[in-house]
Amino acid sequence: MRQLAITVNGEVRTADVEDRTLLVEFLREGLGLTGTHVGCDTTQCGACTVIMDGQAVKSCTVLAVMAEGAEVRTIEGLADGDRLHPLQDAFSRHHALQCGFCTPGMIMASLDVIERHGADLDAQTVRHELEGNLCRCTGYHNIVKAVLDAAGRGSPR
Ligand code: FES
Ligand code: FES
Repeated sequence: MRQLAITVNGEVRTADVEDRTLLVEFLREGLGLTGTHVGCDTTQCGACTVIMDGQAVKSCTVLAVMAEGAEVRTIEGLADGDRLHPLQDAFSRHHALQCGFCTPGMIMASLDVIERHGADLDAQTVRHELEGNLCRCTGYHNIVKAVLDAAGRGSPR
């Protein structure tokens, strides 16, 4: 075991980890940030997506030690108090979730897509970019609408 420090949502956070500890375990079990979900543990579903140093990653595929010194953003870091992040607000208004299991990962992946493409996004690009995020419930139409809506409302934080 060793103590690891990672900046999570703007704060340096520490937890004891083994070399084999995954980033998602560091977040959920080490820090109690359970908004990042584990759907498959095999890099298939995207429920565990977080942003690491400005890039969406599947945190079940990253060892915690690989994130030492990195800046990680999770779903818990998006809202500003009671005020939802524009993507969270758009997902709510467009009914882009049902059970909500995929939603944290879907939103973090969408944030990365919007930050890379800006307001030039089109539906085909959103569908292509989110193909690594699986949803069992929604059929994806409303997710695409929500992402396009959020992209058109300026650069999400
Ligand atoms: S839990 Fe990481 S991709 Fe499914
Ligand atoms: S809303 Fe249920 S898995 Fe996506």
